[in-house]
Amino acid sequence: MTFSQRHFLGIEGLSRDELLFVLNTAESFREISEREVKKVPTLRGKTIINLFYESSTRTRSSFEIAAKRLSADAINISASTSSVNKGETLMDTARNLCAMRPAALVLRHPASGAPHLLARLNQCPVINAGDGTHEHPTQALLDVMTIREHLGDIYGKTVAIVGDILHSRVARSNILALTTLGAQVRLIGPPTLLPPEFSRWGVERHTDLRAGLAGVDAIMMLRLQRERQTRNFFPSLDEYARRFCLTVEALKEAKPNVIILHPGPMNRGVEIDSRVADGPYSVILEQVTNGVAVRMAVLYLLTTQERLATQDQSVAHGQAVGQEGSDVQAEPSAWDEHTVPKRAVGQ
Ligand code: MLT
Repeated sequence: MTFSQRHFLGIEGLSRDELLFVLNTAESFREISEREVKKVPTLRGKTIINLFYESSTRTRSSFEIAAKRLSADAINISASTSSVNKGETLMDTARNLCAMRPAALVLRHPASGAPHLLARLNQCPVINAGDGTHEHPTQALLDVMTIREHLGDIYGKTVAIVGDILHSRVARSNILALTTLGAQVRLIGPPTLLPPEFSRWGVERHTDLRAGLAGVDAIMMLRLQRERQTRNFFPSLDEYARRFCLTVEALKEAKPNVIILHPGPMNRGVEIDSRVADGPYSVILEQVTNGVAVRMAVLYLLTTQERLATQDQSVAHGQAVGQEGSDVQAEPSAWDEHTVPKRAVGQ
């Protein structure tokens, strides 16, 4: 199978096979980050631009590290240091950046749909690194990858997503990814933060934390997105924490081998107790590690389509591709040879 998407804008619209293909590609990349020299020449000579209009620690550094581990040149631009300050529109900024011929533009923006708008310019592949309350597709992929790593197949597993569902792009992307792969999803939170329209995706809704956690395989805690809340959705933070903070006691309702996820940044004591966040069931830092592999996979799949086609022709003509004198000392692997990942077939 090849990945035929030109842009990576969301989980919505991706088939089960496409999701599995990206996940399997990411799993093949994970091993590179375990090497002493964490670098392969796969994207040598390509430039990846990270354009971030919102603050970010994990996602931005993860995309940058992913690009660098593939030997691409990574350029970071944040709105606070760009011409946005001088009144330039997003489209003008994007047109100018694309004129410098990057291989891909990674965009984080507070407006839902901003990456879709850039994709319409169709000047280079656009990757959504989180758009408003809409989607955060690479986060969902790294979450699913982490769940698969611990629980095996996603099919038939029950995953609870707890907290501020209404404002969470992480929740939306995860609901789509998990249900496409056959998981049961339970949304848990105060009624004001649980949009009823989400029921159309076949998810359960719970307003009682303990009842919602009964027998679940994985729990994904969400941050209260206070920067997006336009009114009071609950009486006080204390009240919220009393009802929805994941404590050791609440955890007892879940399956004995449950895993705990959080996209970060965490508000300890509000949505998650430190004893849970740092406890034996937490896979929160593994999510961060897997994030690099997922972003390597997405960058690779979006920026090598053309070359893969060329490679097919060259191979047909008996020529080696991409083997000319590399200055990167790396162990040989599928990535060094610019081949389609060995494991990227089926689940
Ligand atoms: C996001 O960008 O949506 C984060 O990863 C989650 C959060 O901000 O709470």
